Amino acid sequence: MSRSPSPDFLAFAMFAALFLVVFTPAAWSQASDENAWHAPTPLPDRVILGITPDPSTTMSVNWRTSTNVTGSKAEIAEAEDGPDFPKNARKLNATSQALKTDINEALFHTARFTGLKPDTLYTYRVGDGKNWSEWNQFRTAAAGRDPLTFIYVGDAQNNLYSMWSRVIRVAYSTAPDTRFILHAGDLINRRERDADWGEWFYGAGWINSKVPIVAVPGNHEYGRGPTGDREVSTHWRPQFALPENGPSGLEETCYYSDIQGLRVIGLNSNTMHKEQAEWLETVLANNPNPWTVITFHHPVFSASRGRDNKELRELWKPIFDKYKVDMVLTGHDHTYGRSNLVSGNNVRAESGTVYVVSVSGPKMYGLEKQDWMERGAARTQLYQVIRIDGNKLSYESRTARGILYDAFELVKEQGKASRLVNKVPNTPMRGNPDSQE
Ligand SMILES: [Fe+2]
Repeated sequence: MSRSPSPDFLAFAMFAALFLVVFTPAAWSQASDENAWHAPTPLPDRVILGITPDPSTTMSVNWRTSTNVTGSKAEIAEAEDGPDFPKNARKLNATSQALKTDINEALFHTARFTGLKPDTLYTYRVGDGKNWSEWNQFRTAAAGRDPLTFIYVGDAQNNLYSMWSRVIRVAYSTAPDTRFILHAGDLINRRERDADWGEWFYGAGWINSKVPIVAVPGNHEYGRGPTGDREVSTHWRPQFALPENGPSGLEETCYYSDIQGLRVIGLNSNTMHKEQAEWLETVLANNPNPWTVITFHHPVFSASRGRDNKELRELWKPIFDKYKVDMVLTGHDHTYGRSNLVSGNNVRAESGTVYVVSVSGPKMYGLEKQDWMERGAARTQLYQVIRIDGNKLSYESRTARGILYDAFELVKEQGKASRLVNKVPNTPMRGNPDSQE
């Protein structure tokens, strides 16, 4: 005998059906699309080179696969014009670690190439012995001093797939001879979201497999870990291979590398400021390189209202002053600001350090024009190309269209401190909307 559903049941069923129609499909489809897009496979993806303490003879590479691969290998040979180089390839085993993310579980692999020849083009591939990446190419750094180009970008962070990709790509197109790409923190917005990291890797694509990164974590890569302590994203160390020559506890987030006459130092401005100050003193006191650039996330001179980092400035800036660090490259403020030479309280000194805040992604804050700035910008996606040749450093900041927005040169004359020559182009100032700044 059949019975009709009760009116209560019908009302509930209609409500449930309406709820599903209104709320679920969009949320489901977005999540499942993300899950499918970022799912690891046996074929390597997210292939990325990492700077090493000596990039003239060593290079590190990371990649990701699904967890069902067995074996983790790399092969490397000097690049040749024809296809016969694989027979000369050196084979090495890599290390692997599993990472369970919010949407998947993956293996992250690291191989470290050593004993390389300086200033030499190599080709390499990574995989499990059956599933291989393409053969990628990179050039080792020259030994000792040599002309050097590098790219620096501020926060990428948001809309990495849709709006940051074009910036990193035009940056590479402007300077394909770049020896590394420096990311000053906040590469992504949500540190434990694999989709954010997937978009970041997608944006730079094969550039990451050709040019090593120098990256430091921003506040968006930091948060409370399982123990309640503030920790770097659980993705950071498995997915990047960066130097471990910094203070203990800050491996791969505070380090330095010497490349062609430049000492590039990454600091972790999220934590352990005092320990890093002591470490920095020793790294700067024993520096044989004529040029020194430091990067970290939180600026010591802010370019936006209410975002001053007084404690950091008071602790670290005297060390930058003492050792006449050439440039300090930062992010965090989602605006652009660039100083003249700063020393002590003098923001237009004869000698000192140039401070820069920049942003490459689309998230923007208001610009607060201040005494220390020679050039500023609001609501502008930028990248910087820095070229060092002997006693001259040339700096260019360009917009997402590749248009020159800011420039200067530092010149080191024998026995004297660097002199700064402004080369600001006629490109109109991009101030806050509705303001005369
Ligand atoms: Fe940021």
